[in-house]
This record gives sequence, C-alpha cells and structure tokens, in this order.
Amino acid sequence: METRTQDTASFEVTPWEVRGKVDYRKLAEHFGVKLITESELEQIRKLAGGELHYLLRRGFFFAHRGLDSILQRIEKGQRWALYTGRGPSADLHLGHILPWMFAKWLCDRFGVELFFEMTDDEKFLVRDLPLEEANKYAYDNALTLIAIGFKPEQLHLIIDTEDIKYLYRIAIRVAKCLTLSTVKHTFGFTDSTNVGAVFFPTLQIAVAFLPTELYREETPVLIPAGIDQDPYFRLARDVADRLGYPKPCTIYCKFVPALTGEEKMSSSRPETAIYILDDDKTVKKKIMNALTGGQPTKELQRKLGGNPDVCVVYRYFQAYVDDDSLVSKIYNDCKSGNLICGECKLILYEHIVRLLQELRERREKAKDVLEYYRISTKFR
Ligand code: TYM
Repeated sequence: METRTQDTASFEVTPWEVRGKVDYRKLAEHFGVKLITESELEQIRKLAGGELHYLLRRGFFFAHRGLDSILQRIEKGQRWALYTGRGPSADLHLGHILPWMFAKWLCDRFGVELFFEMTDDEKFLVRDLPLEEANKYAYDNALTLIAIGFKPEQLHLIIDTEDIKYLYRIAIRVAKCLTLSTVKHTFGFTDSTNVGAVFFPTLQIAVAFLPTELYREETPVLIPAGIDQDPYFRLARDVADRLGYPKPCTIYCKFVPALTGEEKMSSSRPETAIYILDDDKTVKKKIMNALTGGQPTKELQRKLGGNPDVCVVYRYFQAYVDDDSLVSKIYNDCKSGNLICGECKLILYEHIVRLLQELRERREKAKDVLEYYRISTKFR
C-alpha cells in the first residue's frame, strides 16, 4: 500500500513535509479520499440549522472519509464525537488553528464533544526536541486551543505523556494489527528510524477509538484536520473492523499558505508564518511583506487590476474573515484596480490583529481553568 506521498513530479504531502504546488484534486485521488459534494454541503447546512461554516462555503474543507455516515448519525440522533490534535513542538501559527475554529463550530452546532490529543511524545521521537520542551509546548498550545472558545464540557484534552493510561490498552491492540512493513510503507520510515517513532502512529490512531471505550457504546469520531494527517486515519480505518470499533471518519482542509506563497504555512520556516503570539508590529511587518497577486506599480494596479486568485493576502481573507460581503468586495476591488495592495494588506492586518488580540486575551484567562479541560478531570 503506497500511501506516503502524492508526487506527480511536482508536489509531495506527508505528515511532516509539504513540498511544491499541491493539486488538491489529484492529492485526494491519490490518497483515496472523497471530495465533498454540493449535496453533502446542503445536507450539512440543513442539519446545522440553515447555516454553513465559511470554511465549508469556500471549499477550504474539501475532502473526507466516511462523512456520510456521520451525517446519517446526526440525522438519527445517534452518538458521535470529534477528534483532532497537535504535535506541540513550537508556538502555534495561524495555519494550526484553522481546523480548531471549524471544530468549535461543529461543537456549537451539533452539541458534540471534542477529544484533543497533544502528542508531546511524537515531537520528542521525530524531532530533535527534549521531552520537557515538547511537554511545555503542550500546555502552552492548549491555552490557545481553549482561547478559541471551547467550554470545559465540550473539550477533553489528552497529553500523551501524562494521559497514557487512557490510550495504552487501545494502542497495543492497534499495534498488534499493524505490521512493521505497513507502517514503514505508510510513513516512509526506514531501518534507521527509531522504534518509538514506528510505534507512535498507534497512539494517534488510539484516540479515534477512545470515545467508544469511554462511553461504552459505539461512538465513531469525525476528525477535522489538514489533509497531511490522512495516512494515520487510513490505517485507523483499516484496523477498526478487526478491533470491533467503528471506522473513524475525517474531514480535511487545504493548507493556509506561507506568507511567501509556499503551499503550507509551517513552523519550519518561522519568518514566513504569522504566530498567535507575534506582537502587532511583527504581524504588520509580515503582512506588508507578503506575496500578492498585484502589479509591480500602483499605476499599473489601478490600470490593469490585480489577481486575487494567486494572492496570499486574499487567501488569508478567505481563511480568517467570515464576512462574505467584505471578502467578495476585496476580490472585486482588487480585480478592477480600485484597491491597491498596500491598502488591502492594511485591511487584512486589522482583521488578523483583532483575532490575535482576542486569542491572547483569552489565553491569559485559560491559564486558570486549563485543569477543567483535562481528560483526567472528567473521565476516570
Ligand atoms: P501538527 O501539529 O503538525 O498540526 C496540527 C493541525 O494543524 C494542521 N495544519 C494546518 N492546517 C492548515 N494550514 C496549515 N498551514 C497547517 N499547518 C498545520 C494539521 O493538518 C493538523 O490538523 N501528529 C499531529 C498531531 C495529532 C493530530 C491528531 C492532528 C494527533 N492526533 C488528530 C490531527 C488530528 C501533528 O503533529 O499535527
């Protein structure tokens, strides 16, 4: 089973690296995930009370595995849960929080609970990062997660190195179903990969089955995530039946690009990412230097208009500004030459800075209540 990369000679997507310009349709085909259809969007809209999240409206969330079965459960009023996670190796950037903003909407609309895994073990095993550092980031990143607005009863936080008792019994069952050759093939591991990294996928898979154990009834999960995480969940679906668990379902988003236009905003290139903890001045500087689809001079921009379809700044409007009328005004004004890049960047800056300020304020408050979100506070 070749599942590691999508490489049509021009791009590559793995859980650790994204290179080249991604063709999402081809990637979906290669991974074997389905594109979300118009009729599925309509069904979600109906079930959600007549509204669709802007990330669905704009095709940011674009592909899935088994979404239809979750929609059926919602229709029938049957139990399900959400699951997503983070490998805490650094401060968070804007790309990381995209799936979490969407998860919050799902929690609110459907009254569903979110299981969230902080894989501090993973980052110790696959990166050159001391365990204590990864664990520290798990706590720090959790503050931003809580700041998105989850209530303690909606969000169950798992920190792998501390909450292993919830996962281990599931993980070893998963491990027994997976051969070394499958894991090597799926993740591109080699003979020199450490055995901890080889075992780790069982823990990311285990959380997908945890709600069924905790609620003692069939509880399939829906996993909102970037599409780079798909290899884990393909394996999870492969082993589910054998272990008597429901197959986990997924819903995948496209990547928020780096400021310089590379496909994925990534912590490995910090100067090309906007961090949640960046101060306003830094955010402004970064946005003012971002790649645009504008003309080389103001005069040409006024005369010929710009190209929002290739513009990073416009992409950030789509990713972080809910207001459709503003987003389409930006698009049209750019195309017609009414809006020049400098002005457009300042408008984006105002929006991003407001979002970040709000998150930073709420992070402070989250420090006092983090304990209430821990899985160990709620499930024995
Ligand atoms: P990590 O920390 O690499 O990424 C966390 C989440 O952020 C998404 N992401 C992005 N989404 C859009 N645009 C971007 N530029 C961008 N950069 C990152 C990732 O796809 C991911 O959803 N092994 C995982 C941790 C994990 C997990 C999970 C993730 C454990 N269980 C379940 C998703 C679902 C990791 O290292 O994620």
